[in-house]
Amino acid sequence: MICFQAEIVEAMGLAMRQINVGLLGLGTVGSGVVALLEQQRELWQRRFNTRVDVRKALVRNPSRHRPGCEHIVCTQNAAEVLNDPDIDIIVEVMGGAQPALNYIQRAIENHKPVVTANKLLIACHGHELFDLAQRENVSIGFEASVAGGIPILHVLRQSMINAPITRITGIINGTCNFILSHMEQNGETFTRSLSEAQALGFAEADPATDIGGLDAAHKLTIIASMAFGIPLKLSALTVTGIENIAAIDVFRARELGYCIRHVAVAERREDGLSLRAEPVLVEDQSLLASVQGAMNAIVIETEGVGDMMFYGPGAGSLATASAILSDIADLLPAPSSASTPPLGFLPQGITSQPMIQPGLIHHPWYLHVHLKEQAGAMAALTGALAQNDISLERIVQPQGDTDTDRVPVIAITHEIPRACMDAAMEHIRNLNCVHAKPVFLPVLTIY
Ligand SMILES: NC(=O)c1ccc[n+]([C@@H]2O[C@H](COP(=O)([O-])OP(=O)(O)OC[C@H]3O[C@@H](n4cnc5c(N)ncnc54)[C@H](OP(=O)(O)O)[C@@H]3O)[C@@H](O)[C@H]2O)c1
Repeated sequence: MICFQAEIVEAMGLAMRQINVGLLGLGTVGSGVVALLEQQRELWQRRFNTRVDVRKALVRNPSRHRPGCEHIVCTQNAAEVLNDPDIDIIVEVMGGAQPALNYIQRAIENHKPVVTANKLLIACHGHELFDLAQRENVSIGFEASVAGGIPILHVLRQSMINAPITRITGIINGTCNFILSHMEQNGETFTRSLSEAQALGFAEADPATDIGGLDAAHKLTIIASMAFGIPLKLSALTVTGIENIAAIDVFRARELGYCIRHVAVAERREDGLSLRAEPVLVEDQSLLASVQGAMNAIVIETEGVGDMMFYGPGAGSLATASAILSDIADLLPAPSSASTPPLGFLPQGITSQPMIQPGLIHHPWYLHVHLKEQAGAMAALTGALAQNDISLERIVQPQGDTDTDRVPVIAITHEIPRACMDAAMEHIRNLNCVHAKPVFLPVLTIY
């Protein structure tokens, strides 16, 4: 629990808490934190009665124009951020080992809680940071260091305590996954797929850490430590990158019913643990094979509860910023003597909102009708649809039942409101040429 020194402002008839953040770094993730705070202002008010503002940022080049960040004081002098008594929380998003390690240590010594996205730092220096933070009674959050927007560390720390983990298998490097799935879909070479990833912003100008497997290894080090209660030890891992994966192997694997993915595995067996981050073949029907592009996915296998899969954006400005803001939220003391509100919103933050009438929701629809074998039946059906403004995207007439006079018709409509479909169904049910009750179901578009 921390005590914030910043000013109190009045809002919602209550004293709203003000939190001031100092950023170390204002690049991809840092600017995402600034943007997301702006986007989620109202939500933070309703949930925590709190306003969070980034006041200062440490950067290499303070004179660079940073759209959306004009109100932030940019400086090259770390002390200006770390020693500012008005800064309540330090968010480290500069990356690398030094000087980030040194700055975080100084923040902790100044009794400022720290949130970081720096996996290298946690994987390689986590224990010294945690020891210092414990001695100084200061919190350190690092959810953003693994799998970006997927809150996997929260799950491991808090939600899985009664389900001993037997194995965690994850696609946790978006660059590797983008390259491998691009090779697979386009029959491209590794080099051309890497260039495409760089052109689209899914790979760094210097991609060595990603494609060599080290980035996944840093994340796996953290995951394994939290899953099995072992020390953070990068050297315990077997790490192989994807640089040597050839297009022909991707092709041959597909012929055999497999996909190649860069996968991190932390596995507990009777004879010990195995930690590895390497390219592997996975069955093409498996959940991991369905993970395309720069997305991440993590499968947790447990004793007792069974298996769970978490899927989402593993990197990116706003996704990573979301994990940082959730760590900041965890640092907030409860707004009153009461504990965190049971529904996650403060009582005064719970507000009724307009509900959309079901009839106004748009979907494509699946339609299954049995027509009597008689002249004009199909025309009557399509006429009923047309009268209700329904057009068909696809229609098939599977083989009918030879013992009866029923002719099945199956169709997918274009997107239409439920009200139109309800009206059309009423109409179709009453047609003389329709046998039995027609079936209609909404088609939900989801990955
Ligand atoms: N990008 C992602 O999607 C992502 C996802 C998860 C975790 N992360 C982690 O988040 C951290 C930041 O990543 P990023 O992509 O935001 O990096 P980035 O875009 O390169 O931004 C780095 C920022 O830090 C500043 N900086 C770097 N070294 C500095 C130094 N020695 N002194 C002062 N300022 C310095 C830079 O200043 P200038 O702007 O002046 O150059 C820049 O503002 C890394 O640890 C990364 O692993 C990133």
